[in-house]
Amino acid sequence: MQIDIITCLPKLLESPFNQSILHRAKTKELVNVDIHDLRDYSINKHKQVDDYAYGVGAGMVLMIEPIAKCIEQLQAKRTYDEIIYMTPDGETFNQPMANQLSLKKNLIIICGHYKGIDERVREHIVTKEISIGDFVLSGGELAAAVVSDAIIRLLPGVLSDETSALTDSFQDGLLAPPVYTRPAQYNDWNVPDILLSGNEAKIQEWRLNKSLERTKTRRPDMYEKFKKDQMGE
Ligand code: ADE
Repeated sequence: MQIDIITCLPKLLESPFNQSILHRAKTKELVNVDIHDLRDYSINKHKQVDDYAYGVGAGMVLMIEPIAKCIEQLQAKRTYDEIIYMTPDGETFNQPMANQLSLKKNLIIICGHYKGIDERVREHIVTKEISIGDFVLSGGELAAAVVSDAIIRLLPGVLSDETSALTDSFQDGLLAPPVYTRPAQYNDWNVPDILLSGNEAKIQEWRLNKSLERTKTRRPDMYEKFKKDQMGE
């Protein structure tokens, strides 16, 4: 998979892609993430990429030309499945959307900043708008990192069998059950006996019950949907 991220603050994106699972995915060549500094596509020698909003005065808006120029150059190299714009008024990101996007080959992600981007980019160039939640970040960079992380960990070969994404919360419509590691006793806080029993069937049953219990109390909306879907099957 190829992910191209367009930003005017490339440094904000350096570290997330150079650590842990995302770094491993890059090393194994399962994904290639290129960060493009919008200033390299500026239309003048001042490296300007933003300007005052028409009719409002205050607040800077990212200009259409540098974004369009960067995207044209990328599109000359390959065809993109989606051109994504990170914005709080986009469609709310969730696991099904991560699953769908993980099946794509080439993605562009545009990070907004300041007051946003020229609306014409959204009208004519962007194919999908994503929000990571009902709050406003200073820019789309951290949101782009969140979305990329959720997608990349799903790519075949990125996670080992033991950490398979199939056992993640949300993947089967339930929250994941609790997990424990050594020591089996700390102070007088014990790991549940069943997990030490070696009885695989009983452990699976315990895990499912804990998942159901946790989903019912923490996410009643998910629990109701899960029950409805089960009845429909
Ligand atoms: N940019 C600023 N806030 C955002 C959010 N909540 N989701 C996606 N992009 C954003």
